[in-house]
Amino acid sequence: MHENSMKSYNVTPWSVEGEVDYDKLVRQFGTKYIDDNILEYFRKFTGEINFFVRRNFFFCHRDLDWIFKKYEEGEKFYLYTGRGPSGKVHIGHLLPWFFTKYLQDKFSVPLLFQVTDDEKFLYRDELSLLNVESMTYDNLLDIVAVGFDHEKTQILIDTKGIKELYRIAIKIAKSITLSTIKAVFGFTDSTNIGMIFFPSIQAAPCFLYSEMLGKRVPCLIPAAIDQDNFWRMTRDVAEKLGYYKPAQIHSKFLPALGKEGKMSSSLPETAIYTTDSPEDVRRKVKNAFTGGQPTVEEQRKRGGNPYICPVYFYEQYFFEKDDKKLEEIRQDCLSGKLLCGEHKNGLATKIVAFLTDFQSKREKAKNVVEKYLFDPQRKVFL
Ligand code: TYM
Repeated sequence: MHENSMKSYNVTPWSVEGEVDYDKLVRQFGTKYIDDNILEYFRKFTGEINFFVRRNFFFCHRDLDWIFKKYEEGEKFYLYTGRGPSGKVHIGHLLPWFFTKYLQDKFSVPLLFQVTDDEKFLYRDELSLLNVESMTYDNLLDIVAVGFDHEKTQILIDTKGIKELYRIAIKIAKSITLSTIKAVFGFTDSTNIGMIFFPSIQAAPCFLYSEMLGKRVPCLIPAAIDQDNFWRMTRDVAEKLGYYKPAQIHSKFLPALGKEGKMSSSLPETAIYTTDSPEDVRRKVKNAFTGGQPTVEEQRKRGGNPYICPVYFYEQYFFEKDDKKLEEIRQDCLSGKLLCGEHKNGLATKIVAFLTDFQSKREKAKNVVEKYLFDPQRKVFL
């Protein structure tokens, strides 16, 4: 746990606890905030600042300026992101994937999507390979429902696509010592040896297209900041192995509906899953923690606090795209005009509408999943 006088929190690829201090993470991980230079590049290439960036959800990066400069010079990058299927997909997972789709559409670049079915089997004692397999199929529907361009997207499932990754993974593994991996991931002597090797499997896709095309290809990873340990490790070995260092754009976490922590599959009542029914959504949102006062009278008099409120964060990070309306919500919360109960109803209605549409895309995904699966013969760099 990292502690200061006010907060304590812990961020690793496998768990995020407490109230995350993003400024501290930026310093600790050595990433850079998205600055005017980056915003200028976004304006130039996309004609706008996407709301995930505008709202500071995607907030820091490594080498994004370098990726954009290469792109400007005519060197195309590819996107790399992923999912470790350990349960149902929740709306927090979707946010980095929606941003990835946005980048794919705007920059017209390929996407390599890794599904780390090995990772979750190794990490979670209670999961059998059969459990993970059925979740993998279930999660694939969510990934496909996001709407990536199948001609430019390859979904690589580790236990199936290992042949493509293995030669790269062993080169990476040979360059990293046990003491480094213990220091980066906090592994101990009782960590199973599968987990010790696994980071080289998550690193390998950073270099896969370089291997396939026989030249160095820039790679950009959009993900939440919990995955950063993998990228620090990967960047340390990249140049030595003859590859470019992978670049990252990091997001914050969509919080859980409870008091603190990120939305997590292991806490079902404070997570909204993509398969939740309207009743599930309304119940969970109704029970959410808010920044409101204990009574209506106090709320009217003193107003609420949107800056600690998951209900407000959901609007800010995804459900209210209109900046003016978001500002009204903020003001009305602060002034006490908007009561938490009303706000929760409004948010639940938006989530239900979103899920109704997403669930129909998920159904349709069943017919097209195969088209996305990794095939080394399929050319995605056009
Ligand atoms: P996983 O399955 O834990 O998470 C999938 C993606 O969702 C992000 N994420 C969140 N984003 C916003 N709010 C949240 N509450 C939230 N919870 C999770 C994660 O950062 C991730 O981007 N080891 C990975 C799988 C993986 C991967 C990758 C992820 C393999 N290669 C490359 C990103 C990029 C994992 O288990 O993710």
